[in-house]
Amino acid sequence: MRIPIIAGNWKMNKTISESTYLVNEIKESHLREDVEVVVAVPFTSLTEVKKAIEGTRIKLAAQNMHWEGQGAYTGEISPLMLKEIGIDYCIIGHSERRQYFNETDETVNKKAIAALSYSIKPIICVGETLEQREKNEEEKVVEEQILKAFEGIEEGQIKDIVIAYEPVWAIGTGRTASSEDANKMCGFIRKIIGYKYGEQAAKTIRIQYGGSVKPTNIKELMDMDHIDGALVGGASLVADDFVKIVNY
Ligand code: 13P
Repeated sequence: MRIPIIAGNWKMNKTISESTYLVNEIKESHLREDVEVVVAVPFTSLTEVKKAIEGTRIKLAAQNMHWEGQGAYTGEISPLMLKEIGIDYCIIGHSERRQYFNETDETVNKKAIAALSYSIKPIICVGETLEQREKNEEEKVVEEQILKAFEGIEEGQIKDIVIAYEPVWAIGTGRTASSEDANKMCGFIRKIIGYKYGEQAAKTIRIQYGGSVKPTNIKELMDMDHIDGALVGGASLVADDFVKIVNY
């Protein structure tokens, strides 16, 4: 039984006071108990949001991290620093980081391994661009992203990893993948994990869909057998919408 996981990726939105306000709105709402709820907030808000969610079931995520514990990497944030705050998850390899900040499959792999070594659960993002989909290369692209991201990761660590399939063309565009297409790719990802780690690992790993998830399309996505949750951008910035998505 895979526990559904719905995470709000706030991206570069919300000051500290705005973050506290939003998370308080979320925590005061009824949240479905059979769903794991995660908020991925900006670095600057992590500490205050951590305090605000104490005693609730809401989990905390960072949106990125470096792979070293410390060192001369000006401007970076390490897993050691994040561990002290008490984060549960960290988004790794979001397409916006790949697109704008030179994130590569290699750095995604290093970060995923580092996160696991600090008992931070990585949410590893993969997904093809529109151009790649139009050339029917989406499976090849995603397979390569997955295989590279998982290099050196062992079967025993699979239970602590979440994969987010986020087709780049569906992010922030209002254009969602059809639930069938999203499910097909999530099933394909599960198959890759199965080849690499065996059937049990394939059954265990949780795979989210992300890209224009809204209160109106979440149910249909969650009804699909290979989709175990959602990584929500824009709609996670409005408490009412995010809560509706969690309570799909
Ligand atoms: P949107 O929900 O705004 O399309 O963003 C998706 C996303 O990138 C979540 O990580």
